Amino acid sequence: MIVTTKSLFEVAYGRFAVGAYNINNLEQAMGLFRGCVDSKAPFIIQLSKGARSYTEKRMLEAIIRAAEDVFPEAIYAVHLDHGDEKTAMDCIASGVYSSVMIDASHEPYAENVAITRRVVEAAHKKGISVEAEIGQLGGVEEDIKVEEGNANLTNPAEAQKFVKDSGCDSLACAIGTSHGAYKFSGNQALRFDVLAEIQKLLPKFPLVMHGSSSVPQEEVERINAAGGAIKGSKGVDENQFKRASELGVTKVNIDTDGRLVWTRVHREFFRDQPAKFDLRDPGKIFMAEYAKFIAHKNEKLGSAGRLDEVRAHVTKK
Ligand code: G3H
Ligand code: 13P
Ligand code: ZN
Repeated sequence: MIVTTKSLFEVAYGRFAVGAYNINNLEQAMGLFRGCVDSKAPFIIQLSKGARSYTEKRMLEAIIRAAEDVFPEAIYAVHLDHGDEKTAMDCIASGVYSSVMIDASHEPYAENVAITRRVVEAAHKKGISVEAEIGQLGGVEEDIKVEEGNANLTNPAEAQKFVKDSGCDSLACAIGTSHGAYKFSGNQALRFDVLAEIQKLLPKFPLVMHGSSSVPQEEVERINAAGGAIKGSKGVDENQFKRASELGVTKVNIDTDGRLVWTRVHREFFRDQPAKFDLRDPGKIFMAEYAKFIAHKNEKLGSAGRLDEVRAHVTKK
């Protein structure tokens, strides 16, 4: 069942966070649905602009629609990740998305508000939720590269004003994370003090944590042992998700970790079985491993086992 992020956050707020997982292909979609059904967790399936253009956006959208029949017990939101205004409007019109992110965080405040407001107006007419962003994460975000030192943490007072001015339904905050596999390479850390301040000024308002992959070192070591060269990577401690959710984080974005699972499975497969060339052999292993990874993440996020209460909430409306 496809639901809005808003309805998921109504159940989650202050208690657990919903995993928002990026997908780019069929195998990721299958592993994600299987892992969430197995762990009885609501979830958010999200597509970036890059994912929409990797093959053809309608192919991924068709997979997501078909998943409603293939996994009738799944409850999930379909979300655009880091959208610009044009892409957000396209997703609002598509009939598949129940949620969009408009990311104009690189614009000056007034422009960010104006763009976000236009998207909110169009989305709300169709019952679609809107995530917006204020402050800037470090790392690579679509085609925008933010140097670590230039990453601006969200200013709590500005966040409070932005929510009021823009009318968005949830807010992505920069609290020290960055996209990709190399977070905290300097002296960065999760800024719970900033998060607590934001929650104080925006009580009960759903917050979003981007750049939340944990970059498991065991995964990285296996990749490197199978010929990879991922050096000096570091992610968010997954044991901190609980504290973040108590401070108002209802959505935790994870993409990089899924890419690491894919890389580990395929590197090890072809290292160990150099004569094989049927893409379905490593594909099957990946889907099973990704499902296991997702179920584990949902446990850490506290979303595992919540499906029945989420179903009761979304069906009573
Ligand atoms: O914010 C970045 C997400 O991980 C999406 O990455 O733009 O390479 O698809 P992508
Ligand atoms: P990671 O790179 O930490 O997986 O973050 C993904 C993300 O924030 C997608 O919007
Ligand atoms: Zn992001």
